[in-house]
Amino acid sequence: MSKNKQRVLSGIRATGQLHLGNYFGAIKGMLALQNDPKFETFYMVADAHSITTPYQVENLRSSRLEVILDYLAVGLDPEKSVLFLQSAVPQHFELAFYFSSLMSVAKMQHLPTFKDKVKQHPENVTMALLSYPVLMTADILLYQANQVPVGVDQKPHIEVAREIARKCNNLYGTKFPLPNFFNISGEYIPSLTGEGKMSKSVDGSYINLSDDLETIEKKIAKIPTDSGKGEVRGLEAESDKHQDMIYFDAGNQESKGVKTLMILVELFAGSSLRKEYEASYQKEGLRYAEIKKNLAKLIFKELLPIQEKRAELAKKPDYLKTVIEDGNKKAQVVAEKTILEVKEKMGLNAIV
Ligand code: TRP
Repeated sequence: MSKNKQRVLSGIRATGQLHLGNYFGAIKGMLALQNDPKFETFYMVADAHSITTPYQVENLRSSRLEVILDYLAVGLDPEKSVLFLQSAVPQHFELAFYFSSLMSVAKMQHLPTFKDKVKQHPENVTMALLSYPVLMTADILLYQANQVPVGVDQKPHIEVAREIARKCNNLYGTKFPLPNFFNISGEYIPSLTGEGKMSKSVDGSYINLSDDLETIEKKIAKIPTDSGKGEVRGLEAESDKHQDMIYFDAGNQESKGVKTLMILVELFAGSSLRKEYEASYQKEGLRYAEIKKNLAKLIFKELLPIQEKRAELAKKPDYLKTVIEDGNKKAQVVAEKTILEVKEKMGLNAIV
């Protein structure tokens, strides 16, 4: 392990299939950093985070392997990245407990992600849910990571990690780097319903990485659209990542759907096609059926090689096991070193 490389850590919760939101939110960034020799990358399956909301044991057991399969299928490479299971490295939980002494309960209760989950599962507001971001902080700082490729919704958690790193350094003299949020697309991948972000917990909002062409076509066809003709406003705000890309009649479900469609066009075909469409929108008008069919094809074209690779890998359970075993071991070496340092600084070092 090289000394002067920057460290990267990220993880995805083990809760079933990955969708396009995960792909653009986290995975694209994970890949970019893996393939940049300036970085040393650690990518885990956040399986212990999955128990912070109600879950089925058998589902968790299988989905953590699914995530490893997905990692390999999208191009994460065990020769370049350490791929491992969070639960195989108990130091995550040890460090999380130490860090929990640095955060007030009030602050944790105010996080938007916590409030959302309380709304979703009011009968399941547990200690684990409250300290979710503290465990995530431990994940990151255990590897002294500088960069954390994640979706935009995780930004408040990176703030928690920075605050804990700062406090720990000030109080105990540790040398944790302040981790940075890293995101390539810089925005939420919108929901196909036109409302909010693509999310596994909202039916009809997402396209799975495993969807076939027909399924993708059906899902895209359902994106609400307007008459196809009107005024486009806010185009000059390029840097604002679509914040102001408001279509004619903005505010209703249809115009939100059109915006979603255009964001997907930009992601899969580039901004020049989006601009072309916007020009037609203001002149002769758009024919959504055609646009949607083309978009579905483009999405499927990007997903097909991932699906093929995944199918191949699924036939090699022994290879998968070796990848996980090797990754776990490499992660454990780094984790042990950090924990020894932290215990020493906090007055918890071994006596005999
Ligand atoms: N909370 C992240 C998510 O839901 C998953 C995660 C857990 C994670 N631990 C992490 C991401 C550490 C980055 C770093 O997407």
